[in-house]
Amino acid sequence: MQKEKSIGIFDSGIGGVTVLKEIIKVLPNENYIYYSDSINNPYGDKSDNEIKSICNNIVKFLLSNDCKIIVIACNTASAKTADYLREKYKDIKFVAIEPAYKMVYDYAYDKPTLVMATKGTIESEKFNLLLKKYNNHKTFLLPCIGLADLIEQNKPNEIKEYLQEHISQYKGIIENVVLGCTHYPLIKNYIKDILGDVNFFDGAPKLAEHLRNILEADGLLNDSGSGNIKFIDSQNLKAKEDRFKAFIINN
Ligand code: DGL
Repeated sequence: MQKEKSIGIFDSGIGGVTVLKEIIKVLPNENYIYYSDSINNPYGDKSDNEIKSICNNIVKFLLSNDCKIIVIACNTASAKTADYLREKYKDIKFVAIEPAYKMVYDYAYDKPTLVMATKGTIESEKFNLLLKKYNNHKTFLLPCIGLADLIEQNKPNEIKEYLQEHISQYKGIIENVVLGCTHYPLIKNYIKDILGDVNFFDGAPKLAEHLRNILEADGLLNDSGSGNIKFIDSQNLKAKEDRFKAFIINN
């Protein structure tokens, strides 16, 4: 049955677990295949063509494993490949994360805002259209080159040093922080330690609602399944799977 097929979800590593976690809250009975492409991390510094080819291979793999819909749980991949993939796989729906900049417009427009994302996302045409449309004219853009990589490698000391060096100048100025990379919600506490009690904006909860609506409208909602999650890492790293599962269980 179509309904019982899995939801395919991917990122350049385990960052997309922050998206999956939100999805499970609204779709607890679906089955999932999560593809962690750690071998190609980071996507943020790669060319558009490289990312397209990498993501195309992942989508082929997920579809050959019976996925009914694909979630692109990576802002960089979404910005650079969502249109291409939708054009290429016309019968498949893609749900793509994007930096939650519209949420700032909706809920905290007048507050100074820091957008943290990969260089690839910040330079992308897609993000620049979003910025133009919802600009609050108090926005600072911070391409965090190398940060997703440190998070992927689970290096807390280097992450703290990185943040100290790159975001401490915004302390006392910034009130909103857009977490424009799916790895960044994993280091929310470190960001808070430096910037204080800022408002975080993360696209995952809205994406989860949107995914649910699409499945419902297409008659593909599985509300009686077992909620199985299959984790695949492109380097087959057991440590990744352990970290991934710990986040699902503990958060
Ligand atoms: N998690 C990815 C994102 O949301 C990026 C990490 C990377 O550069 O690979 O943009």
